[in-house]
Amino acid sequence: MALDISCFLLVALFSASCQAIGSSDQRCTEKEVNKTYNCEHLGLSEIPGTLPNSTESLEFSFNALPTIQKTTFSRLVNLTFLDLTRCQIYWIHEDTFQSQHRLETLVLTANPLIFMAETALTGPKALKHLFFIQTGISSIEFIPVHSQKALESLYLGSNHISSIRLPKDFPTEKLKVLDFQNNAIHHLSKEDVSSLQQATNLSLNLNGNDITGIEPGAFKSTVFQSLNFGGTQSLLVIFKGLQNSTIQSLWLGTFEDIDDDEDISSSMFEGLCEMSVERINLQKHHFFNITSNTFYCFSGLQELDLTATHLTELPSGIVGLSKLKKLVLSANKFENLCQISASNFPSLTHLYIKGNTKRLELGSGCLETLEHLRELDLSHDDIETSDCCNLQLRNLSHLQSLNLSYNEPLGLRTEAFKECPQLELLDLAFTRLHVKDAQSPFQNLHLLKVLNLSHCLLGSSNQHLLDGLPALRHLNLQGNRFPNGNIQKTNPLQALGSLEILILSFCDLSSIDHQAFINLKIMNHVDLSHNRLTSSSIEALSHLKGIYLNLASNRISIIPPSLLPVLSQQRTINLRQNPLDCTCSNIYFLEWYKENMQKLEDIEDTFCANPPLLRGVKVSDVMLSCSMAAVGIFFLIVFLLLFAVLLIFAVKRFLRWKYQHI
Ligand SMILES: *[C@@H]1O[C@H](CO)[C@@H](O)[C@H](O)[C@H]1NC(C)=O
Ligand SMILES: *[C@@H]1O[C@H](CO)[C@@H](O)[C@H](O)[C@H]1NC(C)=O
Ligand SMILES: *[C@@H]1O[C@H](CO)[C@@H](O)[C@H](O)[C@H]1NC(C)=O
Ligand SMILES: *[C@@H]1O[C@H](CO)[C@@H](O)[C@H](O)[C@H]1NC(C)=O
Ligand SMILES: *[C@@H]1O[C@H](CO)[C@@H](O)[C@H](O)[C@H]1NC(C)=O
Ligand SMILES: *[C@@H]1O[C@H](CO)[C@@H](O)[C@H](O)[C@H]1NC(C)=O
Ligand SMILES: *[C@@H]1O[C@H](CO)[C@@H](O)[C@H](O)[C@H]1NC(C)=O
Ligand SMILES: *[C@@H]1O[C@H](CO)[C@@H](O)[C@H](O)[C@H]1NC(C)=O
Ligand SMILES: *[C@@H]1O[C@H](CO)[C@@H](O)[C@H](O)[C@H]1NC(C)=O
Repeated sequence: MALDISCFLLVALFSASCQAIGSSDQRCTEKEVNKTYNCEHLGLSEIPGTLPNSTESLEFSFNALPTIQKTTFSRLVNLTFLDLTRCQIYWIHEDTFQSQHRLETLVLTANPLIFMAETALTGPKALKHLFFIQTGISSIEFIPVHSQKALESLYLGSNHISSIRLPKDFPTEKLKVLDFQNNAIHHLSKEDVSSLQQATNLSLNLNGNDITGIEPGAFKSTVFQSLNFGGTQSLLVIFKGLQNSTIQSLWLGTFEDIDDDEDISSSMFEGLCEMSVERINLQKHHFFNITSNTFYCFSGLQELDLTATHLTELPSGIVGLSKLKKLVLSANKFENLCQISASNFPSLTHLYIKGNTKRLELGSGCLETLEHLRELDLSHDDIETSDCCNLQLRNLSHLQSLNLSYNEPLGLRTEAFKECPQLELLDLAFTRLHVKDAQSPFQNLHLLKVLNLSHCLLGSSNQHLLDGLPALRHLNLQGNRFPNGNIQKTNPLQALGSLEILILSFCDLSSIDHQAFINLKIMNHVDLSHNRLTSSSIEALSHLKGIYLNLASNRISIIPPSLLPVLSQQRTINLRQNPLDCTCSNIYFLEWYKENMQKLEDIEDTFCANPPLLRGVKVSDVMLSCSMAAVGIFFLIVFLLLFAVLLIFAVKRFLRWKYQHI
């Protein structure tokens, strides 16, 4: 019927959706009505009068406010967040933030500060986060924070500060983060460190300061959440200086551009025997000559990160790592997995060896002593093997998570992961798979919940590919092809009764059988984006309710009325980048669209493709009024005429009959 109807178009292009305020050429964007505004990069020299008094969060970076004072922000009494990055501020007058009692976060990063009045910050009662990064200051005394009892974090990176000593009246009660990255701090004395004593659980960042001396005993009986001495030339100095301290996380990595020819030896780590540390990161140091004694003092350690430490092998018989739980050996130069001598760390639960710079051979049973291993990451390792993975992963019976993504082709036979029956997550993304048998390589992974097979170049013609995965909830098949671009009624997915999330984007699909997902009854997220589907494939989802459905970038133009209920019963639908028809032929869909806007995602980017007049217009802005065509009117008139003739005839008969019976 709708097709017989011609139409009058009434296009109402509603006013631009992006709400903008401000004078004609200087517009702040509203991110949350009356509360959150962004005025970055507008060359403003004052707070625009159009910003409402109720503004709570203001991003005002890259403007020009050389001096700020009491009147600058006085109107904005409810500010909690104020970002003034790179506003050329050099002078902060008395009482500048006097009216901002609620201010919690103040960002003054990258302003060439010369003066800050003693009373500048007396207004805010609950200031929590202060950013003075790159402000040219050379002493903490510059910042008048004595009354800020709620202060939690102070960021002072990239300045000229030479001492970490806090002033006597500095509020340390709530202090959690003190960040001195890239300053000029070279020496830490007892008094410096004891000025931090009040702060419990502090994270102190001294990254990029070349610490050359620590007074012996300076850190005695101190407790830190984390300490970062990144980029320090001499680890020896650090370990000696930290004696008798307790530290959760110690970051001692270095950087490419730092010359580090200090040979790492066991004597260097001796200080570690006299402190308590849970996690250490030593990334990018050169471990030229590891001996069995090198890690002698690491015995209390839970986590060790040796990323990019130029390792080619670890000798067997290393002392001190037997309690280690988590080990990162990424970006090293192993040639064979056995070269890590896994028997050194029998307690490991997490092992990460990703981005190995050489092609990694998996060997056979190299990890078999790691009976507690739960998580193993071997991604980006150039691994290639024609028969994976039972021999290679022998005895990993507690493994729950295995990442083999971004490797070279792997051949898989039936029950390829039999040695790891506890697997819950298996990531094979971007690794080409050769499935060699008709039975499923994933068979009997009874606990597997997440399987990532994206871009594995599987020819999914194998009907049994996904058999034997009763608990699978999340399957990613992005970038794999189906025969003829079609998912038939019988297909490998039908075996996955527990599936909740299914990703089939970029699969070059042009059709899906109406019953293709009929056994998948509890799905709640289906991504079919970036295919060539038309509306007829929507039928395949008719048994599902309340799902998130992504149909973006397909070939959907007209959605007939019979399929609209299938969409109506879903939670969220994305139809972006489809050649949607906005003529009267599609009037039922267009009306449905208006009534279901709350369900639609990316409305701002969902446009009409037809008729040419409406191309690029948002579907939500189209107002269509469809009336009947001339042909329709002609038939209607004929019909009415006939009806009238019949009526007259009938009345005549009736009158005649009545007349005869008088
Ligand atoms: C925003 O503020 C204006 C003026 O105070 C008020 O009329 C409007 O209701 C407010 N809107 C919201 C969403 O709070
Ligand atoms: C500031 O917030 C309070 C409480 O949320 C509100 O009562 C008051 O009207 C706000 N002030 C302005 C100027 O919007
Ligand atoms: C905003 O605050 C200023 C100063 O407190 C006041 O003069 C002005 O009337 C207020 N504006 C509105 C719209 O309430
Ligand atoms: C210490 O801080 C860390 C994060 O900074 C937090 O996760 C931890 O719970 C805190 N511990 C205590 C005892 O407050
Ligand atoms: C560390 O503590 C031990 C005893 O617990 C003590 O013998 C030693 O002198 C202390 N070292 C420093 C540097 O304070
Ligand atoms: C490694 O260290 C051991 C003992 O410290 C030493 O005997 C050996 O010569 C060293 N090897 C190299 C290559 O430096
Ligand atoms: C294999 O694991 C078991 C425990 O799961 C352990 O007892 C055995 O020693 C391991 N085998 C080897 C060769 O390490
Ligand atoms: C597996 O490794 C890749 C690359 O390192 C990473 O992007 C991906 O998130 C990892 N998978 C999981 C499940 O963590
Ligand atoms: C594979 O999928 C899982 C689950 O969505 C995800 O965590 C992981 O990052 C994905 N892997 C890659 C390489 O993107």
